[in-house]
Amino acid sequence: MASITLTFIDPTGKEHKVEAFPGQSVMRAAKSAMVPGIEAVCGGNCICGTCHCYIEAAGGAALPEPDDTEAAMLEATPEPRPESRLTCQIPVTENLDGMVLRVPASQH
Ligand code: FES
Repeated sequence: MASITLTFIDPTGKEHKVEAFPGQSVMRAAKSAMVPGIEAVCGGNCICGTCHCYIEAAGGAALPEPDDTEAAMLEATPEPRPESRLTCQIPVTENLDGMVLRVPASQH
């Protein structure tokens, strides 16, 4: 199986290359690598907003749109943008290889 690499840019601007695996969420991959700013307080239940990232490059395929629950939670984050996503709601697939995500400054 080809490896899947995600790049997180933390609030200080430092890059973190993270290996991810199909079957986990993007948030879990970030937590495994202890990416600063990804707290994921609710454990992936879409109710805390502390796994919020801005998607700078989506990898090889477009992501599905956020569902209503995720969209509502994103609106409650300090600085939502059109490219905002909750990383706990993005399943890792091989198509995500090369994805770049920026952690919001508010999560510093
Ligand atoms: Fe809480 Fe994603 S981990 S909303």
